[in-house]
Amino acid sequence: MSNLTPYEHAIRALVYAESPEKQQRVLAENAQKSPLARLVHNGAYGFIYRYPELTMHILAKPYRDQGLEVIAFGRNSTAIRDGETVLKIARASERMPAPEQRKLVDELTYRHDASMTYLGAMCIDQKFEVIEHPLHNTTVVAGVQSFVDFEPFDSHAWPAADKRPSLSDFAEKSLVMEAETHLMTDVSGTNNFGFDNDDNLVLVDTIPMKSSDGGPSIDMARRMLNEMAVLAR
Ligand SMILES: Nc1ncnc2c1ncn2[C@@H]1O[C@H](COP(=O)(O)OP(=O)(O)OP(=O)(O)O)[C@@H](O)[C@H]1O
Ligand SMILES: [Mg+2]
Repeated sequence: MSNLTPYEHAIRALVYAESPEKQQRVLAENAQKSPLARLVHNGAYGFIYRYPELTMHILAKPYRDQGLEVIAFGRNSTAIRDGETVLKIARASERMPAPEQRKLVDELTYRHDASMTYLGAMCIDQKFEVIEHPLHNTTVVAGVQSFVDFEPFDSHAWPAADKRPSLSDFAEKSLVMEAETHLMTDVSGTNNFGFDNDDNLVLVDTIPMKSSDGGPSIDMARRMLNEMAVLAR
């Protein structure tokens, strides 16, 4: 992780601001560093955990200057709103050679198609392309999706009775997808799905994780899906 640029460190800290568990991981990682490097890293990360909105405001400035609104800095992508369209720039693809970018487009398309197949209309359609970066003179891989006004699902609150059948249906279908394709809907990320103004369940982060990747996000997603699946029983 030490070869990240300051910009990448800032985004990583911002993404981790909501996750005490990931913050512990960074602390453990920094424990290997010299006392001075540890002081600087932990101090900077600590500042960002404490002031995520200010950090977001600073990081989003170059986009604002171009008249674009940053919706979120996700783990993998920067989600930008341009009118009724959302552009999700896969940050890691900025430094990729063209053949690797095309491979990434294929991989994202493959995973998204699985979500569409198993989840149907709950999965908000998305197209992946290599595009010109909105800020620099480079190409990047991006997802293009319609903007959806939705209320993110709060996994800490007990869901209202009228929402339980669709949560249950969504979870059951996701579990079938996992059993048949080893791809797991990313319900572990905050704000990845929720309910639109007509109370339809909408999944905007349509890229499932690979169950074989293992780790805490997979365990958490599996636990949440199993809990949701029985809500309507
Ligand atoms: N179509 C959309 N309409 C409205 N908001 C959206 C849309 N797509 C994404 N967002 C918002 O932007 C955030 C980041 O997008 P997304 O989850 O797709 O990216 P990500 O990098 O895969 O995120 P992560 O891996 O952190 O979950 C979402 O959690 C959601 O809050
Ligand atoms: Mg997400």
